[in-house]
Amino acid sequence: MADLSVTLGPLRLKNPVLTASGTFGYGREYEDFVNLNRLGGIITKSITRDPRAGNPPPRITEVPGGMLNSIGLANVGMEAFVREKLPYLRNLETQIIVNVAGNSVEEYEAVVSRLDREKGIHAFELNLSCPNVKEGGLTFGKSPEAVFKIVERVRLHTNRPLIVKLTPNVTAIGDLAQAAVDGGADILSAINTVMGMAVDVSARKSVLGKMTGGFSGPALKSIALAKVFEVVRRVSVPVIGIGGIFSAEDVLEFLLVGASAVQIGTANFVDPAISEKVVNDLEIYCEKQGIEDLEEIIGKLDVDGAGGDGNKNRL
Ligand code: FUM
Repeated sequence: MADLSVTLGPLRLKNPVLTASGTFGYGREYEDFVNLNRLGGIITKSITRDPRAGNPPPRITEVPGGMLNSIGLANVGMEAFVREKLPYLRNLETQIIVNVAGNSVEEYEAVVSRLDREKGIHAFELNLSCPNVKEGGLTFGKSPEAVFKIVERVRLHTNRPLIVKLTPNVTAIGDLAQAAVDGGADILSAINTVMGMAVDVSARKSVLGKMTGGFSGPALKSIALAKVFEVVRRVSVPVIGIGGIFSAEDVLEFLLVGASAVQIGTANFVDPAISEKVVNDLEIYCEKQGIEDLEEIIGKLDVDGAGGDGNKNRL
Protein backbone atom coordinates (compact mmCIF):
# COMPACT_ATOMS: atom_id res chain seq x y z
CA MET A 1 0.00 0.00 0.00
CA ALA A 2 1.38 3.43 -0.94
CA ASP A 3 2.28 5.91 1.76
CA LEU A 4 -0.18 8.79 1.37
CA SER A 5 1.05 10.71 4.41
CA VAL A 6 2.25 14.28 4.01
CA THR A 7 4.20 16.56 6.31
CA LEU A 8 3.36 20.25 6.38
CA GLY A 9 6.01 21.76 8.63
CA PRO A 10 4.81 20.93 12.14
CA LEU A 11 1.63 19.19 10.94
CA ARG A 12 1.61 15.57 9.79
CA LEU A 13 -1.44 14.20 7.95
CA LYS A 14 -2.12 10.53 7.16
CA ASN A 15 -3.15 11.65 3.68
CA PRO A 16 -3.48 15.04 1.95
CA VAL A 17 -7.29 15.20 1.99
CA LEU A 18 -8.86 17.70 4.39
CA THR A 19 -12.43 18.94 4.42
CA ALA A 20 -12.83 22.70 3.98
CA SER A 21 -14.26 24.95 6.66
CA GLY A 22 -17.94 25.74 6.29
CA THR A 23 -18.68 22.75 4.08
CA PHE A 24 -18.42 19.94 6.63
CA GLY A 25 -20.22 21.32 9.70
CA TYR A 26 -18.44 20.24 12.88
CA GLY A 27 -17.60 16.83 11.36
CA ARG A 28 -20.25 14.74 13.09
CA GLU A 29 -22.89 15.78 10.54
CA TYR A 30 -21.03 13.60 8.00
CA GLU A 31 -20.44 10.49 10.13
CA ASP A 32 -23.18 8.51 8.32
CA PHE A 33 -21.53 9.14 4.96
CA VAL A 34 -17.79 9.13 5.59
CA ASN A 35 -15.43 7.11 7.77
CA LEU A 36 -14.03 10.27 9.31
CA ASN A 37 -10.90 8.44 10.44
CA ARG A 38 -9.94 7.87 6.79
CA LEU A 39 -9.49 11.60 6.23
CA GLY A 40 -6.24 13.50 6.54
CA GLY A 41 -8.10 15.97 8.72
CA ILE A 42 -11.29 17.89 9.38
CA ILE A 43 -11.46 21.68 9.39
CA THR A 44 -14.35 22.98 11.44
CA LYS A 45 -16.75 25.79 10.64
CA SER A 46 -15.30 29.17 11.53
CA ILE A 47 -15.49 29.67 15.30
CA THR A 48 -15.97 33.15 16.75
CA ARG A 49 -15.95 34.41 20.35
CA ASP A 50 -19.75 34.64 20.56
CA PRO A 51 -22.41 32.63 18.74
CA ARG A 52 -23.43 34.11 15.38
CA ALA A 53 -26.76 33.70 13.61
CA GLY A 54 -25.26 34.65 10.25
CA ASN A 55 -26.66 36.64 7.32
CA PRO A 56 -30.33 36.94 6.27
CA PRO A 57 -31.54 34.24 3.83
CA PRO A 58 -31.28 33.24 1.05
CA ARG A 59 -27.69 32.39 1.91
CA ILE A 60 -26.87 29.85 -0.78
CA THR A 61 -27.66 29.61 -4.48
CA GLU A 62 -26.48 27.40 -7.33
CA VAL A 63 -24.99 29.19 -10.35
CA PRO A 64 -23.34 27.91 -13.55
CA GLY A 65 -20.05 26.24 -12.62
CA GLY A 66 -20.64 26.28 -8.90
CA MET A 67 -22.48 28.06 -6.13
CA LEU A 68 -22.59 31.27 -4.14
CA ASN A 69 -22.74 31.44 -0.37
CA SER A 70 -23.29 34.26 2.03
CA ILE A 71 -23.55 32.45 5.35
CA GLY A 72 -22.04 35.21 7.44
CA LEU A 73 -19.97 32.93 9.69
CA ALA A 74 -22.96 31.40 11.51
CA ASN A 75 -21.56 29.26 14.33
CA VAL A 76 -22.14 28.24 17.95
CA GLY A 77 -19.34 30.38 19.43
CA MET A 78 -16.19 29.18 21.19
CA GLU A 79 -17.65 28.08 24.54
CA ALA A 80 -20.40 25.95 22.99
CA PHE A 81 -17.83 24.57 20.55
CA VAL A 82 -15.66 23.41 23.46
CA ARG A 83 -18.64 21.99 25.37
CA GLU A 84 -20.69 20.42 22.59
CA LYS A 85 -18.51 19.77 19.53
CA LEU A 86 -14.92 19.22 20.62
CA PRO A 87 -15.53 16.11 22.81
CA TYR A 88 -16.72 14.21 19.70
CA LEU A 89 -13.95 15.54 17.47
CA ARG A 90 -11.13 14.77 19.89
CA ASN A 91 -12.06 11.08 19.89
CA LEU A 92 -11.51 10.78 16.14
CA GLU A 93 -8.29 9.43 14.70
CA THR A 94 -7.68 12.29 12.36
CA GLN A 95 -6.23 15.78 12.63
CA ILE A 96 -8.67 18.38 13.93
CA ILE A 97 -8.10 21.89 12.66
CA VAL A 98 -10.23 24.69 14.06
CA ASN A 99 -10.98 27.55 11.71
CA VAL A 100 -11.07 30.86 13.61
CA ALA A 101 -12.79 34.11 12.61
CA GLY A 102 -13.47 37.44 14.27
CA ASN A 103 -14.49 41.07 13.92
CA SER A 104 -11.27 42.42 15.40
CA VAL A 105 -7.68 41.42 16.09
CA GLU A 106 -8.66 41.05 19.75
CA GLU A 107 -11.41 38.57 18.87
CA TYR A 108 -9.01 36.36 16.91
CA GLU A 109 -6.63 36.48 19.87
CA ALA A 110 -9.41 35.67 22.34
CA VAL A 111 -10.63 32.64 20.38
CA VAL A 112 -7.18 31.17 19.80
CA SER A 113 -6.03 31.70 23.38
CA ARG A 114 -9.24 30.11 24.73
CA LEU A 115 -9.11 27.10 22.41
CA ASP A 116 -5.38 26.64 22.94
CA ARG A 117 -6.21 25.48 26.49
CA GLU A 118 -8.10 22.49 25.06
CA LYS A 119 -6.79 19.06 24.09
CA GLY A 120 -7.60 17.48 20.75
CA ILE A 121 -6.96 20.46 18.47
CA HIS A 122 -4.02 19.86 16.16
CA ALA A 123 -3.87 23.23 14.40
CA PHE A 124 -5.66 26.53 13.89
CA GLU A 125 -6.65 27.98 10.55
CA LEU A 126 -7.20 31.76 10.61
CA ASN A 127 -9.99 32.82 8.32
CA LEU A 128 -8.76 36.18 7.04
CA SER A 129 -10.75 35.85 3.85
CA CYS A 130 -14.51 35.58 4.43
CA PRO A 131 -16.13 37.92 1.87
CA ASN A 132 -19.52 37.97 3.63
CA VAL A 133 -19.08 40.06 6.77
CA LYS A 134 -18.81 43.84 7.23
CA GLU A 135 -15.98 43.70 9.76
CA GLY A 136 -13.10 41.26 10.04
CA GLY A 137 -12.67 38.56 7.38
CA LEU A 138 -11.79 40.10 4.08
CA THR A 139 -11.43 43.57 5.61
CA PHE A 140 -8.23 42.27 7.22
CA GLY A 141 -7.40 39.73 4.60
CA LYS A 142 -6.96 42.16 1.69
CA SER A 143 -4.19 44.16 3.28
CA PRO A 144 -0.70 42.67 3.74
CA GLU A 145 -0.11 45.03 6.70
CA ALA A 146 -3.29 43.86 8.45
CA VAL A 147 -2.51 40.21 7.72
CA PHE A 148 0.96 40.62 9.21
CA LYS A 149 -0.39 42.32 12.33
CA ILE A 150 -3.13 39.80 13.06
CA VAL A 151 -0.91 36.77 12.50
CA GLU A 152 1.86 38.24 14.64
CA ARG A 153 -0.60 38.92 17.47
CA VAL A 154 -2.32 35.51 17.30
CA ARG A 155 1.05 33.76 17.13
CA LEU A 156 1.71 34.90 20.70
CA HIS A 157 -1.19 32.75 21.95
CA THR A 158 -0.35 29.33 20.54
CA ASN A 159 2.53 27.03 19.70
CA ARG A 160 0.26 24.80 17.65
CA PRO A 161 0.54 24.93 13.86
CA LEU A 162 -0.96 28.14 12.53
CA ILE A 163 -2.51 28.09 9.06
CA VAL A 164 -3.60 31.31 7.36
CA LYS A 165 -6.36 31.07 4.75
CA LEU A 166 -5.85 33.60 1.97
CA THR A 167 -8.34 35.40 -0.22
CA PRO A 168 -8.06 35.45 -4.03
CA ASN A 169 -9.91 38.79 -4.11
CA VAL A 170 -6.72 40.81 -4.49
CA THR A 171 -4.27 41.63 -7.27
CA ALA A 172 -1.22 40.09 -5.61
CA ILE A 173 -1.92 37.07 -3.43
CA GLY A 174 1.84 36.58 -3.10
CA ASP A 175 2.08 39.76 -1.01
CA LEU A 176 -0.55 38.41 1.40
CA ALA A 177 1.28 35.09 1.58
CA GLN A 178 4.56 36.81 2.40
CA ALA A 179 2.90 38.96 5.07
CA ALA A 180 1.33 35.91 6.73
CA VAL A 181 4.66 34.08 6.80
CA ASP A 182 6.45 37.16 8.15
CA GLY A 183 3.81 37.34 10.88
CA GLY A 184 4.51 33.74 11.92
CA ALA A 185 2.24 31.47 9.88
CA ASP A 186 3.49 27.88 9.60
CA ILE A 187 1.26 26.93 6.68
CA LEU A 188 -0.94 28.79 4.18
CA SER A 189 -4.22 27.69 2.63
CA ALA A 190 -5.45 29.10 -0.68
CA ILE A 191 -7.93 29.99 -1.95
CA ASN A 192 -11.11 31.07 -0.23
CA THR A 193 -14.07 31.99 -2.43
CA VAL A 194 -14.11 34.59 -5.18
CA MET A 195 -16.61 37.42 -4.66
CA GLY A 196 -19.67 36.86 -6.85
CA MET A 197 -23.32 37.79 -7.39
CA ALA A 198 -26.49 36.35 -8.91
CA VAL A 199 -29.45 38.45 -10.09
CA ASP A 200 -33.13 37.52 -10.25
CA VAL A 201 -34.26 39.49 -13.30
CA SER A 202 -38.02 39.19 -12.73
CA ALA A 203 -37.74 40.39 -9.13
CA ARG A 204 -34.96 42.84 -10.03
CA LYS A 205 -33.16 41.72 -6.91
CA SER A 206 -30.01 39.97 -5.93
CA VAL A 207 -30.69 36.27 -5.32
CA LEU A 208 -28.74 36.36 -2.06
CA GLY A 209 -30.11 38.20 0.96
CA LYS A 210 -26.84 40.10 1.34
CA MET A 211 -26.37 41.05 -2.33
CA THR A 212 -22.97 39.45 -2.91
CA GLY A 213 -21.47 36.15 -1.85
CA GLY A 214 -18.49 33.86 -2.27
CA PHE A 215 -18.29 31.79 -5.46
CA SER A 216 -16.98 28.21 -5.21
CA GLY A 217 -17.18 24.96 -7.17
CA PRO A 218 -15.65 23.34 -10.24
CA ALA A 219 -15.20 26.63 -12.14
CA LEU A 220 -12.94 27.89 -9.35
CA LYS A 221 -10.29 25.21 -9.88
CA SER A 222 -8.30 26.89 -12.65
CA ILE A 223 -8.15 30.15 -10.71
CA ALA A 224 -7.14 28.30 -7.54
CA LEU A 225 -4.37 26.36 -9.29
CA ALA A 226 -2.87 29.58 -10.62
CA LYS A 227 -3.07 31.27 -7.21
CA VAL A 228 -1.48 28.27 -5.45
CA PHE A 229 1.25 28.24 -8.08
CA GLU A 230 1.89 31.94 -7.36
CA VAL A 231 1.98 31.38 -3.59
CA VAL A 232 4.34 28.36 -3.64
CA ARG A 233 6.79 30.33 -5.78
CA ARG A 234 6.75 33.22 -3.34
CA VAL A 235 7.08 31.57 0.09
CA SER A 236 8.76 28.47 1.42
CA VAL A 237 6.14 27.30 3.95
CA PRO A 238 3.78 24.45 2.94
CA VAL A 239 0.58 25.39 1.13
CA ILE A 240 -2.83 23.71 1.21
CA GLY A 241 -4.73 24.00 -2.08
CA ILE A 242 -8.47 24.71 -2.14
CA GLY A 243 -10.84 25.34 -5.02
CA GLY A 244 -13.13 23.12 -7.10
CA ILE A 245 -11.62 19.81 -6.00
CA PHE A 246 -13.98 16.93 -6.84
CA SER A 247 -11.67 14.01 -7.65
CA ALA A 248 -8.30 12.38 -7.03
CA GLU A 249 -7.14 13.84 -10.33
CA ASP A 250 -7.98 17.33 -9.07
CA VAL A 251 -5.91 16.61 -5.94
CA LEU A 252 -2.97 15.49 -8.06
CA GLU A 253 -3.13 18.72 -10.08
CA PHE A 254 -2.77 20.76 -6.89
CA LEU A 255 0.06 18.54 -5.58
CA LEU A 256 1.92 18.89 -8.88
CA VAL A 257 1.77 22.69 -8.76
CA GLY A 258 3.23 22.51 -5.27
CA ALA A 259 0.44 22.20 -2.71
CA SER A 260 1.29 19.73 0.08
CA ALA A 261 -2.35 18.94 0.85
CA VAL A 262 -5.82 20.00 -0.26
CA GLN A 263 -9.24 20.88 1.12
CA ILE A 264 -12.45 19.56 -0.38
CA GLY A 265 -15.28 22.07 -0.05
CA THR A 266 -18.26 22.50 -2.37
CA ALA A 267 -18.00 18.86 -3.51
CA ASN A 268 -19.21 17.78 -0.04
CA PHE A 269 -22.59 19.33 -0.87
CA VAL A 270 -22.83 17.40 -4.13
CA ASP A 271 -21.75 14.05 -2.68
CA PRO A 272 -21.36 13.89 1.11
CA ALA A 273 -19.15 10.79 0.78
CA ILE A 274 -16.72 12.35 -1.70
CA SER A 275 -13.83 13.07 0.66
CA GLU A 276 -13.38 9.39 1.54
CA LYS A 277 -13.83 8.35 -2.10
CA VAL A 278 -11.04 10.72 -3.10
CA VAL A 279 -8.71 9.14 -0.50
CA ASN A 280 -9.54 5.69 -1.88
CA ASP A 281 -8.93 6.85 -5.44
CA LEU A 282 -5.57 8.36 -4.51
CA GLU A 283 -4.54 4.98 -3.14
CA ILE A 284 -5.62 3.25 -6.36
CA TYR A 285 -3.77 5.84 -8.46
CA CYS A 286 -0.52 5.32 -6.51
CA GLU A 287 -0.80 1.56 -6.81
CA LYS A 288 -1.40 1.72 -10.57
CA GLN A 289 1.47 4.16 -11.10
CA GLY A 290 3.85 2.34 -8.77
CA ILE A 291 4.15 5.41 -6.53
CA GLU A 292 5.28 4.36 -3.07
CA ASP A 293 5.23 7.76 -1.44
CA LEU A 294 2.71 10.39 -2.60
CA GLU A 295 4.97 13.21 -1.37
CA GLU A 296 7.26 12.38 -4.31
CA ILE A 297 4.97 14.22 -6.70
CA ILE A 298 4.56 17.47 -4.73
CA GLY A 299 5.80 20.37 -6.85
CA LYS A 300 6.83 18.06 -9.69
CA LEU A 301 5.07 20.05 -12.42
CA ASP A 302 7.23 20.14 -15.52
CA VAL A 303 7.55 23.87 -16.11
CA ASP A 304 9.90 23.60 -19.09
CA GLY A 305 8.87 23.29 -22.70
CA ALA A 306 5.46 22.89 -24.27
CA GLY A 307 2.22 22.21 -22.43
CA GLY A 308 0.59 18.81 -22.04
CA ASP A 309 -2.62 17.66 -23.65
CA GLY A 310 -5.51 18.24 -21.28
CA ASN A 311 -7.51 15.43 -22.86
CA LYS A 312 -4.87 12.71 -22.92
CA ASN A 313 -3.83 10.49 -20.05
CA ARG A 314 -6.90 11.13 -17.90
CA LEU A 315 -6.96 8.89 -14.83
O1 FUM B 1 -20.20 33.52 4.85
C1 FUM B 1 -19.43 32.69 5.30
O2 FUM B 1 -19.61 32.19 6.43
C2 FUM B 1 -18.25 32.35 4.51
C3 FUM B 1 -17.08 32.27 5.04
C4 FUM B 1 -15.88 32.12 4.23
O3 FUM B 1 -15.97 32.04 3.00
O4 FUM B 1 -14.80 32.10 4.78
